[in-house]
Amino acid sequence: MRIYQAKDYNEMSRKAANIISAQIIMKPDAVLGLATGSTPIGTYKQLIDWYNKGDLDFADIRSVNLDEYKGLPADNDQSYAYFMRNNLFDHVNIKKENTYIPNGLETDTELECSRYNHIIRSLGGIDLQLLGIGNNGHIGFNEPGEAFEKETHCVKLTENTIQANARFFENIDYVPKYAYSTGIKNIMQAKSILLVASGKSKADALYKALFGPITPAVPASILQLHNNVSIVADEDALSLIKENQCI
Ligand code: GLP
Repeated sequence: MRIYQAKDYNEMSRKAANIISAQIIMKPDAVLGLATGSTPIGTYKQLIDWYNKGDLDFADIRSVNLDEYKGLPADNDQSYAYFMRNNLFDHVNIKKENTYIPNGLETDTELECSRYNHIIRSLGGIDLQLLGIGNNGHIGFNEPGEAFEKETHCVKLTENTIQANARFFENIDYVPKYAYSTGIKNIMQAKSILLVASGKSKADALYKALFGPITPAVPASILQLHNNVSIVADEDALSLIKENQCI
């Protein structure tokens, strides 16, 4: 595991975008596993900037997103489908038919999960998986629990996650209670993983994930077992790790 330190959010975003752009340049038809949340927005902005300067080409890139709220249509401005169009897809030359996100409107859970797992497999797996981290240590929407969920599944969101994500909605009652998420096995099968973290609110989760016991109570802790993980985090997110002299 490599930990890249950044002084602030902007530097974190630029360093993370560098790793993604290296992947795109090395493999122009790479399969990118993409993430939502506020943390990767700056990374996407930087990629768009390099695309506009002619340094990056998304024409053959394929993408699979980690998760989607159950019950939200793709045109709802809080859906992750909307987020991806707004923050990346509409601004680069990725082909919309090469971008995949779970269908939040599919009510047949089993059907949607197996459809999505099949897509990931048929693309040949994920080359680079981008991840944020929830302040309870969740990745994608793999919430703390008794066991690591393997593949795409329907999640009942924890109170903590509902509260943390309420800031994006009109009020907390509008936050969906369920989501589709790829599983720990889908994530761990990616050839490489890039986790971004910013701010003091992530310090505890990041410390436990990287230096605590490997346990489904902290889903991100499983990343300790992956052989190609890069962490790009700012000083605030790394504060506990530094305090405990882990780096
Ligand atoms: C959501 C997403 C995660 C994301 C997390 C943290 O729950 N499902 O993929 O990592 O939020 O979001 P933020 O970056 O806004 O803190």
